[in-house]
Amino acid sequence: MTGAATTQTFRTAIVPAAGLGTRFLPATKAVPKELLPVVDTPGIELVAAEAAAAGAERLVIVTSPGKDAVVRYFEEQPELEQNLEAKGKTDLLEKVRRGSGLLAVETAIQEQALGLGHAVAQAEPNLRPDDEAVAVLLPDDLVLPTGVLERMSAVRAQYGGSVLCAFDIPKAEISPYGVFDVTGTDDEDVKRVHGMVEKPKPEDAPSTYAAAGRYLLDRAIFDALKRITPGSGGELQLTDAVALLISEGHPVHVVVHRGGRHDLGNPGGFLRAAVDFALETPEYGPSLRAWLTERIGTERP
Ligand code: UTP
Repeated sequence: MTGAATTQTFRTAIVPAAGLGTRFLPATKAVPKELLPVVDTPGIELVAAEAAAAGAERLVIVTSPGKDAVVRYFEEQPELEQNLEAKGKTDLLEKVRRGSGLLAVETAIQEQALGLGHAVAQAEPNLRPDDEAVAVLLPDDLVLPTGVLERMSAVRAQYGGSVLCAFDIPKAEISPYGVFDVTGTDDEDVKRVHGMVEKPKPEDAPSTYAAAGRYLLDRAIFDALKRITPGSGGELQLTDAVALLISEGHPVHVVVHRGGRHDLGNPGGFLRAAVDFALETPEYGPSLRAWLTERIGTERP
């Protein structure tokens, strides 16, 4: 039995995947960015596996009308599976079945990309009466090694309320991030959150703790999402709903994750992730390493 089982505080995970993926154009004209493969596995499967390992039983994918391939990816493919089975391709069969076997997948539709908060709000009808909290995982944010959701769940079990995930970022590099205003607890890696500042200048940053794409949200978030107004870019921001809850005394903590991260939402970050994962595989790692070593420092002929 894992630690997650003893402090399990959620059964439903929400993965918002209805964004426009503009940073990945032109590929995202036809292919949802969530399906772009990190080596051979779409980012959304990596995130679904993380949710399942943390004890989620159901995954609600918020998708848009043109992106139904994201949900199809998790459906069984009987013909393909029979074909692979008949040919004895058991390794491939296992890979094909992996996604659909992880957890029960449901869909919610966001008709228009009106922001992350709006996307999460679309999943409310999918909740069960006993869902007191939900996990939200952004599929373009790989948090490594996995396991932070289990720690976030333990923090909710201790303090109640909502729990977010933070990275400790050097102050000089903090500007692209949402940054938490925090005070400490007895645990060095758990902080109480008092507010959040989006994309501050280093001198204005209230801390060095930057938000990552993992949230464990009390069900009260859905009510808060109905009470906020559109913020920057005319979008309903999830962080505005969290800020509203904080202002009403709802406890919000962060778990500081001491590990790595890949941003799959832009080509540069995606390539790093793909190279990082490929280098770890016995199949591609050694030859990729040798090629990269030779390629670096040479001009393309
Ligand atoms: P991003 O801002 O990274 O995704 O949102 P995006 O909007 O697709 O990307 P760009 O900026 O146009 O390149 C983080 C996550 O939230 C989802 C996205 O699909 C992504 O997984 N999202 C964002 C929604 O589901 N709906 C929205 O309205 C906005």
